Amino acid sequence: MGFLQDNGLDPKGLDAEAILKDFREDMGRGLAGEGPLPMLPAAFPLRGDLPRNCEIPAFDVGGTNIRSARIRFNAHGEPTVLNQLRGFMPGSRGPVDHATFYRILCDVLVPNVRAGESVGYCFSYPVDELGTLLFWTKGIQAPSVMGSNVMRDLEAALEERGLKDCTVCVLNDTVAALLAAYAHHADTQRAGYVGFILGTGSNTAYAETVERIVKAPGLPRGCHIPINCESGNFSRFPRSRFDERYEALSGNGRAQWERCISGVHLGPLGTEILHAAAEAGLFSPGVRDAVLARTFTNVELDGFCSGKMPDVLYCTAEEARTVRGLICPMYERAARFAAINIAAAALRSAEARDMRSGTIRVNADGSTFWKTASVPFVDLVRADLEALLSPRGFSFEIVRIDDAPLIGAALAVR
Ligand code: BGC
Repeated sequence: MGFLQDNGLDPKGLDAEAILKDFREDMGRGLAGEGPLPMLPAAFPLRGDLPRNCEIPAFDVGGTNIRSARIRFNAHGEPTVLNQLRGFMPGSRGPVDHATFYRILCDVLVPNVRAGESVGYCFSYPVDELGTLLFWTKGIQAPSVMGSNVMRDLEAALEERGLKDCTVCVLNDTVAALLAAYAHHADTQRAGYVGFILGTGSNTAYAETVERIVKAPGLPRGCHIPINCESGNFSRFPRSRFDERYEALSGNGRAQWERCISGVHLGPLGTEILHAAAEAGLFSPGVRDAVLARTFTNVELDGFCSGKMPDVLYCTAEEARTVRGLICPMYERAARFAAINIAAAALRSAEARDMRSGTIRVNADGSTFWKTASVPFVDLVRADLEALLSPRGFSFEIVRIDDAPLIGAALAVR
């Protein structure tokens, strides 16, 4: 056995079928209000039609950046993104209070809103159907915003800036990705639809029949409702000693799955692997000291292992190979987990549509999914998805839709 396997990190040895079974089960439990997956219903049902001949203000508040725009839909319902404005996510670079949080948000949003308009608000954090922020993820430091109603508070902040009678429709970024997936080639119906994000954070959405959302009996009957799974909280999977070290260092018991796959976590998790390898004597004394003296970001680790950023660590070619041998399996595992995660949502989506076969459309968004270069990430996801879905009668297409969070946010308004 090698060092990684001895410590429980063995992507090739994973039992993907067993994890998929538990994932599907926990999604069902979450709809009954049990288990670790929040499975949060959106505040609106799915609609079949597209907006036409209109312009809708949209706001995308993500893990690192915030963006506003006006989305113009033409006579065929095709969107164009106009006047895009950007800023940094408040609380991502240091603590902010409630007033500062909304001042930064409004600085970016206000130029794209007129009084009385409805704004589509894509907010990439766990929010319930009333608009309450349940908890922060991605390390955002804005404690006074937690537990507040982010929809009402944005309406109030717009009012304070002189924009009277605006309404805000809040939705998760995975729900935005899901709506964009439905609207993409809307003339071709698919067996199921999934919105999957793997960037700074990770999460999944699909649409569920309202009758199966057992925990919310008050919802209008006879429709499909987008579900923000908050799938990063899945917890029934084998952990390595490195995951345990990372959890002990900075965890709070939440988002265990997300901590194995998403961009904000892969840097510190990879650092734990390298530190453990250095402590176990796998490097020469000079490289050991250099490794132990610092932490690495995801961009640095992926850049080094893909050969794009050789300066991240000065070492011999042989030691660089050792580093790659230690870090690439972490990315391979992330790809395998991503495939299991997508397959679980794909199968539930098809079930909710009563489909036994056909093609599932997956709208995948996020830099970790599309930009990880040290392993053939997307190809690995495809191979595993194929192995999980085809024996069950399903094929899939992975689509990449530019500006999906903004377009999806605009699609939620009506
Ligand atoms: C958040 C989710 C979000 C995901 C992707 C996670 O950290 O909890 O709400 O959808 O990141 O941005």
